[in-house]
Amino acid sequence: MDSIVVKGGRELNGKIHIAGAKNAALALMPATLLSEEPLTLTNAPRLSDIKTMTELLESLGSEISSLQDGKVQVMSTHGRINTTADYDIVRKMRASNLVLGPLLAREGNAIVSLPGGCAIGARPMDIHTDGLEKMGASIELNDGYLHAKAAGGRLKGAVIDFPFASVGATENIMMAATLAKGTTVISNAAREPEIVDLATCLRAMGAQIDGDGTSRIEIQGVDRLGGATHPVVTDRIELGTYMLAPVFTGGEIECIGGRMHLVENFAAKLDAAGIDVSETKDGLKVKRRGDRPRAVNVKTEPFPGFPTDLQAQMMAMLCFAEGTSVLEETIFENRFMHAPELVRMGAKIDVSGNTATVTGVDKMKGAPVMATDLRASVSLILAGLASEGETIVNRVYHLDRGYEHVEEKLSAVGAQIERISSK
Ligand code: EPZ
Repeated sequence: MDSIVVKGGRELNGKIHIAGAKNAALALMPATLLSEEPLTLTNAPRLSDIKTMTELLESLGSEISSLQDGKVQVMSTHGRINTTADYDIVRKMRASNLVLGPLLAREGNAIVSLPGGCAIGARPMDIHTDGLEKMGASIELNDGYLHAKAAGGRLKGAVIDFPFASVGATENIMMAATLAKGTTVISNAAREPEIVDLATCLRAMGAQIDGDGTSRIEIQGVDRLGGATHPVVTDRIELGTYMLAPVFTGGEIECIGGRMHLVENFAAKLDAAGIDVSETKDGLKVKRRGDRPRAVNVKTEPFPGFPTDLQAQMMAMLCFAEGTSVLEETIFENRFMHAPELVRMGAKIDVSGNTATVTGVDKMKGAPVMATDLRASVSLILAGLASEGETIVNRVYHLDRGYEHVEEKLSAVGAQIERISSK
């Protein structure tokens, strides 16, 4: 397993290119199952999760080719396909569950392994399955697989009221509804930019969708969808992560491709912490005003609230802020695993249930630490940038799921960081 070694204390200056969004691409790729025409994604990120989704779709019968160093994915799914998504692939990545809606819409049946829990929480699929059942699907759980069938071979439109604005459930139901008979309305839908990106791509394929980006989405089912070419939206979580980098080290970083509307709430928090964020022609420029950020309180919420996927990175920054901050994690039940690792580096964090209280310290010390999930791993690297001495982050396979070549992007702007491969 590889490790990443960071030596702290170096100021960062320059430009970092932000990639296409992992969480958009992982919803866009299953859309290829909805049509027999080719779907081409440009600006696709080069990540291990994309490889896993490619493996899953190929196991269902899709043909996928990557061009131009993986940033362009051309996918097409002709004729009859395999409708069983195997446990061995699905257990590696929860987003595999996003083939359920498209398979049901295209073939009228699907057998999809339940993804199982992961480090940050139980992550059930009840909102997905309740919505599909309202559309006429019968779904049974046998031997860890969801066995789904559409009554009469085709889903029908329904009015669906989500108990929680689930991102994945919104994506699954929206894709399923594009080919259903009649109109589907999703109330309390997720409003994330990745939902808007998926709806934009589906419309390019011929779907009739209105209201994406609001909490009420209406989909008028059609008989077939065509192909499309669609640019994957900028990754707002990678963007927020690199916006924080100069806060740990001093200096100024311009995140190329960043746009303010993707990170409005996050940028407002940075401003309250004493950090300048300005929109340039090409991206977002970030510089801290004083020597240390100020403490701020954070509560994670569905978009447009503060993103849970930036909570770990924000906690790392608040570890050396002036004052005491309170972070409340309302989306996942176990998303503070980075806290004990940051404490190993000298942070003062008190976790009680879904609340973490961080008392800022004026310096942190490098140490060997363990990555536990995707976003926790990058928060440890950021903390290493601001710490005295050397930080060794182990189990960086978590990192490679969601960040393209972190060590290259950070060393290009002055960080002393390298990957140690261990056979
Ligand atoms: C998406 O996961 C993202 N993943 C997550 O990013 C992100 O943290 C999450 O949305 C919230 O923004 C992808 O897009 C691939 P949810 P998803 O359904 O769709 C509960 C990352 O780091 N829930 O909005 O799984 C669930 O348990 C990853 O890139 C149910 O109870 O998130 C969780 O507590 C991590 N029943 C909450 O809702 C359901 O049927 C949010 O889940 C579905 C969800």
